[in-house]
Amino acid sequence: MKFDPSDRKFPELQAHQLEELQSEGPVSGVGLRKKLSISQIRTRASRAGTGVRAAPVKITFDGCKPGRVGLGTDGPLMHCCPPMPKGPIVDFVPVRNMSKPLRVRKALQCLEGEELEIYVQKLRKGYALMRALPLDDPRCLEQHRMCHCAHSTGAYTCQGVGVDIHFGWLFYPFHRFFLYFHERILQHLLGDPDFTLHFWNWDNAGQGGCGKPGDIIPPMYADPTQHSTFHHNRHNRTYHPDLVVDLWVDAWNETRLPGGFSKEVTKARNLETMHWAMITLKDAPEGFSGRVYRAGYPRVTPYVGAGTLEVSAHGALHKWVGIDMDDFSFAAGDPLFYPHHENIDRLWDVWRNLSPNNTVPNDPDFLDAEFLFYDENIVLRRMKARHALDMSAFGYEYEDVPNVEWLTQGKGDAGVAPPADEMPQLAEDLSELTLSDGSERTF
Ligand code: C2O
Repeated sequence: MKFDPSDRKFPELQAHQLEELQSEGPVSGVGLRKKLSISQIRTRASRAGTGVRAAPVKITFDGCKPGRVGLGTDGPLMHCCPPMPKGPIVDFVPVRNMSKPLRVRKALQCLEGEELEIYVQKLRKGYALMRALPLDDPRCLEQHRMCHCAHSTGAYTCQGVGVDIHFGWLFYPFHRFFLYFHERILQHLLGDPDFTLHFWNWDNAGQGGCGKPGDIIPPMYADPTQHSTFHHNRHNRTYHPDLVVDLWVDAWNETRLPGGFSKEVTKARNLETMHWAMITLKDAPEGFSGRVYRAGYPRVTPYVGAGTLEVSAHGALHKWVGIDMDDFSFAAGDPLFYPHHENIDRLWDVWRNLSPNNTVPNDPDFLDAEFLFYDENIVLRRMKARHALDMSAFGYEYEDVPNVEWLTQGKGDAGVAPPADEMPQLAEDLSELTLSDGSERTF
């Protein structure tokens, strides 16, 4: 089926919403994909926020208004705010139930036999149920899509400025919560509190472990006859079951799409990408976590601000799957979004365990950032980033995939990754930023 972007339906905006948006003026960001050295990052990171009354980003229900489709600030307006809560917002702090073993999120490519069969059945049933809910039920798949959209397009505002939880330090905690509630809702719909969504182990080329490569599209999401787990608006390349994913596609300055590389070259590039994202910047944890992002900070140009893994393999996978997955407004409407992000969630933990230097930010504006999600009972829950840090509190862990090839390989042999002393532009070059009201602000 050929995808025509003009087929997308955008709900009509109310007159007052339009006015609100038009009065906003353009937001301009800082230069795209400029690379800084580690010491420049450090200087800018410590300068960041000087003179600003620091406060954490807080997502509030009232702060939601239509956002902008796409990565820029001139895309069509889109309404993706959640339905009104029917009761009070309830704080959520995950607490591990010690009487239960941790549920294990496993590598999809290693499931087999009866376990695989049962899993695929449940997965299909879970998504069929999720899609069958009324559109205004916050638990339906479309509302999951909208929830992600609302956090990515400036729909949620904080101190009057549109929020984007990507391209900065909120990336990991936000997605952990998002996945957690997604999984909880699937468990609820299936009537199976132990149902565990397994991950797409795309960084695993198949050496060691169960010996099967994870770097191709997981077949249970790629069968067009299965409408619950399949999504039409993907790039054609996802129809090739053996095509190795390209973890460097369009990262940095390269725009070449995969298909032009042999399997060997793609695999070598992938290892190099992972090695760079996870290891090369080991003495600069802020390079992994992403830019400092406080209340009132404007959204920035795509890619600026993202940590190493977010800017490379994470973004590349979105592009590789393509079309809806490559658009923040639509990505979470593709069921493949979730196992992709579980791998990111897993790699966050893998990274933290690689070195004692790999610490998350201890700034209160990171730790106290607040998010809102509907739970399986349609109760709106509020949580803080600090409560996302310990995965076991949520009752799950990841299968220990033994073969992390990129630990020892991928040290620049494919000539893809930038040199070790370069990293993405992370800290705000705040003097260059223009706020969403069009005014220049010097920090
Ligand atoms: Cu919220 Cu992979 O994007």
